[in-house]
Amino acid sequence: MTLPQTVRIVEVGPRDGLQNESGTVPAAVKIELIHRLADAGLRAIEATAFVSPKWVPQMADNAAVMAGIRKKPGVAYPVLVPNLKGFEAALAAGAEEIAVFAAASEAFSHKNINCSIAESLARFEPVVQAAKQHKLRVRGYISCVAGCPYQGAVEPAAVAEVAAELERMGCYEISLGDTIGVGTPGKIQAMLATVAIAVPMEKLALHFHDTYGQALANLYAALELGVATIDSSVAGLGGCPYAKGASGNVATEDVVYMLDGLGIRTGVDLDLVFEAGRYICAQLGREPSSKVARALAAKKTSPAQAASA
Ligand code: HMG
Ligand code: MG
Repeated sequence: MTLPQTVRIVEVGPRDGLQNESGTVPAAVKIELIHRLADAGLRAIEATAFVSPKWVPQMADNAAVMAGIRKKPGVAYPVLVPNLKGFEAALAAGAEEIAVFAAASEAFSHKNINCSIAESLARFEPVVQAAKQHKLRVRGYISCVAGCPYQGAVEPAAVAEVAAELERMGCYEISLGDTIGVGTPGKIQAMLATVAIAVPMEKLALHFHDTYGQALANLYAALELGVATIDSSVAGLGGCPYAKGASGNVATEDVVYMLDGLGIRTGVDLDLVFEAGRYICAQLGREPSSKVARALAAKKTSPAQAASA
């Protein structure tokens, strides 16, 4: 088994990381976070979601966030879109890449987007077509690839079926979401082996929430099978409002630290992404859930370190 030499990190903090916040996070703070993440070397930063503000109030400032971003050349700022209404709004806001999001679990599909899997795929078809007409790139998500908070087990074959459909529609990449972080390395490898029969490994991305602390081990197991795109969230922020008890995505700092250690290139500067995490955590009044961020913070403030500085 050979690990990839380069991994593309898709930063989802400004969207997945903040969508679940109960307090208001001002658009200006989100914009500043996005700028800091781009300065840290991230080349794909999911900026916001054009979903119903009644369903996810935290993303109601989507147009303001898009208007405020100083776009950096070479950086993609994808946004979530659930339907044509969201697509029109995203287009008007200047989005150049969108992501549609389905699930491998019927129960979750109903809770998250109020329709069945088949209805969601039928709804995405015209969205993807419209995006192609306007030369926007489209990414596809699948939630609950390792288990569902409502129905429990999810068969890998169900994930493969949705992945194949999203690819057929024209998604350039399918991001596999372990929404509630229940996967373990063997289970993830088995799921990937099944999905890769339907969609080539190089078109798959990993989107692991770290609820059970398995995300890094699961990512390593997936890297062994050749997946080379990882979604992560600065400071480990986040969770899905429609997945009870789900904690944040695997932290970007933790992923970068592990990949640096493996000699895998990401183009991301660990110190700068750590500082971006410190910024947003200070704004939210909380500690990062990233263990690497906590270790770096302790190192920076330890008396021994200060004395030797
Ligand atoms: P619905 O209630 O069935 O839709 O919701 P509707 O078409 O009946 O519309 C209801 C109202 O919403 C109407 O307004 C629409 O105009 C409005 P009203 O007439 O009542 O005033 N509306 C919209 N407004 C703004 N933007 C839109 C939009 N669409 C309708 N795009 C809907 C269906 C899909 C809209 C809703 O369920 C929804 O927005 N869901 C989004 C849920 C969400 O964002 N979840 C979190 C993101 S997914 C995630 O986190 C998982 C992921 O990270 C991967 C993983 O971890 O697994 C991606
Ligand atoms: Mg997610």
